[in-house]
Amino acid sequence: MRRPVIAGNWKMYKTQEETRAFFAAFKPLVPATPDCDVIVAPPFTSLAAAAAAAHGSSITIAAQNAYWEREGAFTGEISVRMIADAGGKAVLIGHSERRQFFGETDETVLKKTKAALAAGLTPIVCIGEKLAEYQAGKTQHVCETQFLAGSNSLTPEEFSRILLAYEPVWAIGTGHTATPEIATAVHKFLRSCAAARFSESLAASLRILYGGSVKPDNIKGLMAQEELDGVLVGGASLDPKSFASIVKDWPR
Ligand code: PGA
Repeated sequence: MRRPVIAGNWKMYKTQEETRAFFAAFKPLVPATPDCDVIVAPPFTSLAAAAAAAHGSSITIAAQNAYWEREGAFTGEISVRMIADAGGKAVLIGHSERRQFFGETDETVLKKTKAALAAGLTPIVCIGEKLAEYQAGKTQHVCETQFLAGSNSLTPEEFSRILLAYEPVWAIGTGHTATPEIATAVHKFLRSCAAARFSESLAASLRILYGGSVKPDNIKGLMAQEELDGVLVGGASLDPKSFASIVKDWPR
């Protein structure tokens, strides 16, 4: 049995004060020991405030990006060690907005993943095809390429510690969520890629999240799919009530 994961990606939203207000409202709405892993990824500046606010709960705090070097003359970057120091236990890597707007490549995704693993953080590695690729029937090709390049040179032990998030770019922030059937087909395909690259047993235990316009009103259709091990939620994770309702509706 794979333990479900419900992760919220706040993107560039919420100050420290807004972060504290979120947790004050969110914590009482979710079970103390939920049937899933609950992760919240605030911006860097709110990491420590989120970690302090989540203290004593089972909520995990994640960063949204990281740099792979330990320290040095890298103006504007944040290392995995700094994230851990601020209370982060996980980190999103290769989100499509980073790939689209900030020059993230499969190569940098791999470097960041390795750095995160070495620091004991859980990498949440994001992959997914763009609209034109989807329309051209290239979804599997794009996902396989990103998966293989992003996991290239990981040992089986390292691979066992990552979470994979399938986020079709055409579904992110657009309100056009992939149907549960589309998401299921890609998840099955990715699991077969993991089996071919690593092993059947590692593929069977790999947790694959779906992301892209997940909302309280479509979570039930998604959770009905055995292949989906959880969700990565953007917009709907900003509101404590809507994110809590997704957390509570997940258990099958
Ligand atoms: P969305 O974002 O739920 O607002 O579509 C998802 C994501 O970018 O992770």
